[in-house]
Amino acid sequence: MFSKVEKVTCVGAGYVGGPTCAMIAHKCPDIQVTVVDMNSEKIAEWNSEKLPIYEPGLHEIVMAARGKNLHFSSDIPKAIREADLIFISVNTPTKNYGRGKGMAPDLKYVESVARTIAQHAGAPKIVVEKSTVPVKAAESISFILREAQKNDTRLAFQVLSNPEFLAEGTAIRDLSNPDRVLIGGESTKEGQEAIHHLVSIYERWVPRDRILTTNTWSSELSKLAANAFLAQRISSINAMSAVCEATGADVREVAHAVGFDSRIGNKFLQASVGFGGSCFQKDVLSLVYLCESLNLQKVADYWMGVIDINNWQRRRFADKIIAELFNTVTDKRIAIFGFAFKKNTGDTRESSSIYVSSHLLEEHAKLAIYDPKVSEKQIRMELGNNVDKQIVEKLVTVCADPYEAAAGAHAIVVLTEWDEFKELDYSRIYSSMQHPAAIFDGRLILDQPVLRDIGFRTFAIGTAPDQAYNLFGSSGCC
Ligand SMILES: NC(=O)c1ccc[n+]([C@@H]2O[C@H](COP(=O)([O-])OP(=O)(O)OC[C@H]3O[C@@H](n4cnc5c(N)ncnc54)[C@H](O)[C@@H]3O)[C@@H](O)[C@H]2O)c1
Repeated sequence: MFSKVEKVTCVGAGYVGGPTCAMIAHKCPDIQVTVVDMNSEKIAEWNSEKLPIYEPGLHEIVMAARGKNLHFSSDIPKAIREADLIFISVNTPTKNYGRGKGMAPDLKYVESVARTIAQHAGAPKIVVEKSTVPVKAAESISFILREAQKNDTRLAFQVLSNPEFLAEGTAIRDLSNPDRVLIGGESTKEGQEAIHHLVSIYERWVPRDRILTTNTWSSELSKLAANAFLAQRISSINAMSAVCEATGADVREVAHAVGFDSRIGNKFLQASVGFGGSCFQKDVLSLVYLCESLNLQKVADYWMGVIDINNWQRRRFADKIIAELFNTVTDKRIAIFGFAFKKNTGDTRESSSIYVSSHLLEEHAKLAIYDPKVSEKQIRMELGNNVDKQIVEKLVTVCADPYEAAAGAHAIVVLTEWDEFKELDYSRIYSSMQHPAAIFDGRLILDQPVLRDIGFRTFAIGTAPDQAYNLFGSSGCC
């Protein structure tokens, strides 16, 4: 094939393609890295001062390498032609039409990239599937590429699976110090050679024992399995949060005690209003769909339970808000703190904020929404996809700061765990609100006793109100 990878192209300049390639460029100054996308506005943003995505630490490494060995371009054919190795890092959203609607991942973008590579390659290439795909997707990519090979003897392709495990909000940390890098490929001589080329990129900064090599199908399935296990853990602690509220146990204490068991571990045991983001739901649904296609209905049902609990938790929280606000939120101003699906990102895909806000809008609450990294346009677009656009227009105000959002509100609902929400002047906020004033903490980040001392009625997920009252001995109710 070739002796050394000198040029890398990544198709897809999104949350994965951008940061991953910025890290490769940062760690491998001798490799020319080009990130391409069919969305030319996004490419223009990658070439500007204001990058299209927010990730702590990303701006610095992009600025240091951009124009040297990191390039963002809309010329996809050229970038494909010139590359030795091509990452496919395009989106694989849940299908919203036809067969598998609402369950299967839509692979049309991956297939279209495979066809573009077949058309413009012109020379041997290693093609790396970085997008999250169902098992055997690499086979379809190989099939398309082999057809091109039949007509052009200069061509040769090896397809590898190299799923990405970064988490938004900590992408740069995760990429610079990954728990593991997973590479799957064929057991043939050519397959092993391709694996070796990709390993030799990562091993510049990742210890060799953390670079795992497997067969292609294990690699593809491991990504779905890892996300299913992570999502299951959140649904498990969220299921416990409901038991806690009903019994007087405190979910933080239960998580702490459970997490002390070294077989379980203490990470990812934070109860919340439910998981969001572009991956967990999509990947669990993809696994469920795969199991159903394999006639493994029991397994499919088991994993579907993870999604069911997540949806239930969001609905349960919204219902709790309505119940505690005297069973009606119609025309009441409610401040929503946080719209991103987690802190340190501006990504709103599948954010629990969308669902809780939508339930409240259906009850005709007036929402005053604040998020430090999400634009008004984005908030309106997400809510408009869920509830009538006229209702969104009429009942939603997007605020520039949390004090403005809370002024005149009956309640504050914390839906994203932004650190700045812990530091606010809640006495000032309380005096600007309607009374009685309530706070619903869907992320367990606020100091409930302090808030109750100020005068707030408080509800925090996974804690029984009267239990909190007894525990902390402070005044206030609910
Ligand atoms: N976001 C995450 O945290 C994360 C983490 C791990 C894995 N993944 C997986 O990585 C993949 C990419 O996710 P993302 O969040 O970066 O998606 P994204 O939507 O942020 O970016 C995908 C980009 O691909 C571009 N694109 C689509 N089709 C194209 C084509 N034919 N030619 C050129 N560009 C094209 C889109 O314009 C878009 O900019 C998905 O499969 C996802 O499941 C995502």
